[in-house]
Amino acid sequence: GNYSGPLRPQIHFSPPTEFMNDPNGMFLDADGVYHLYYQYNPTDIVAGNQHWGHATSNDLFHWTNQQIAIYPPTNDSQLFSGSAVVDVNNTSGFFPNQTNGVVAIYTLNTATAQVQEIAYSSDGGYTFQRYAGNPVIDVNSTQFRDPKVIWHEETGKWAMVVAHSQDFVIEIYTSPDLKEWSHGSNFSHYGLLGSQYECPNMLALPVVRADGTSETMYLLAISINPGAPLGGSITQYFPGTFNGTHFTPADGATRLTDFGKDNYAGQFFSGVPASQKQIAIGWASNWQYAQTVPTGPLEGWRSAMTLPKISSLRDAGAAGIELVQELPDLSPIYESQLVQNRSTDNLTLAIDYSSVSSGTIYLDINVTNINMAAVSGTLNFTITSSSTNESLSAGYLLSSGDFWIDRGDVEGFKNLFFTDRFFTVYAVQNGAWRLQAVVDRSLLEVAIDSGRQAATTSFYPQVGGKMDGLLVAADGLGQAEVSVGVWGLQSG
Ligand code: FRU
Repeated sequence: GNYSGPLRPQIHFSPPTEFMNDPNGMFLDADGVYHLYYQYNPTDIVAGNQHWGHATSNDLFHWTNQQIAIYPPTNDSQLFSGSAVVDVNNTSGFFPNQTNGVVAIYTLNTATAQVQEIAYSSDGGYTFQRYAGNPVIDVNSTQFRDPKVIWHEETGKWAMVVAHSQDFVIEIYTSPDLKEWSHGSNFSHYGLLGSQYECPNMLALPVVRADGTSETMYLLAISINPGAPLGGSITQYFPGTFNGTHFTPADGATRLTDFGKDNYAGQFFSGVPASQKQIAIGWASNWQYAQTVPTGPLEGWRSAMTLPKISSLRDAGAAGIELVQELPDLSPIYESQLVQNRSTDNLTLAIDYSSVSSGTIYLDINVTNINMAAVSGTLNFTITSSSTNESLSAGYLLSSGDFWIDRGDVEGFKNLFFTDRFFTVYAVQNGAWRLQAVVDRSLLEVAIDSGRQAATTSFYPQVGGKMDGLLVAADGLGQAEVSVGVWGLQSG
């Protein structure tokens, strides 16, 4: 693939050429290599003819493209989304003399059915063989897909969540060996329905309580498409408990993983110990416009993944249990520091980052000593292009807690569904507030207060409209202290 196009993200994964959607099969191997598979159409710039593409990374920023890992078995079938596990104890029997066997569990889609299949890899996830006994689950449905499998230690079994999409049912199955699956329970009609449930994920995450103690709790995430509140596709989640067969939500609430609309079908890596923060990657697009964005005609590829989101749960008291999605530590890929600034109350910083060869920057703003009684103003940043009049902006109204992102003045893509503005509300907590942002050519990622709120937003500068300027401005912060750090990042 050619990754030099001006719209090509440098630290977010994108396919070598043609069309990509959901992340699939993500696992961390025993050598510390992260494996990412993905819904891939190697023959066209729109979805269809789905394969499992494959890439690997040591740091989750810089990816090496690998050969297509799994092909559809026939011309009229497609390999849809799913997951992968390392079968360390050889429960499947596929791996008599090894501990690094990988089993992929995915949906085979044909005109007449969606069934669950498995394929196994004896070379650490690079090449796979379809199991001769496929399908492993067939319920005679055309809308039954996206199996995600985890190991449930307490029952000593594998557990699968899989969507009966148009019935709004997440079915849980269990298995001793990844081949024979038994019905566990149905989780149905929770939260936002949209038109379909897709890509469920269930796993244990550490939950951090106000007193600093930590325990483990489950999270069930369900993606919906179309019919998201902002249009198209989005992912919702439910914290709760899981006993091996049944998931029980902790409260009646539905929460979204993202307040933008370019984060869908997210999946968590298998193989990260349950006591640790878990790592999710989503598809940084939306079915409303994924197949029409200008990277196709201009650069021959479509869609990137989100950055890895370092995920844990947080007990927010009356507000319930919330998913926290931190940006990963970016310091290993700093190329140069562009700004380190401290000021009080007001500030205006104009930064020309045209010298950063990747075109990719990281911004970290920390506001401390906030006296809410004295605060009246805003804090915002704007990304600009020196060659055109385009701009991308975001800002925060401290007194009300309103936060916005505006991509409406980036001119390279206009479409009825390509929403201009996104909003959330997040009150200042304990007199401090943090805003982190990564701007990676055609993707903006924002994290508020170390990931208590998060948004991924795609934007497409017009031809020749490379973004290369940053303006940070604040006023009326009532003597609050503001520290701003900006770094140029290394290319992939
Ligand atoms: C979600 C999805 C999945 C399906 C895959 C097909 O984006 O529709 O439900 O498995 O994409 O590419």
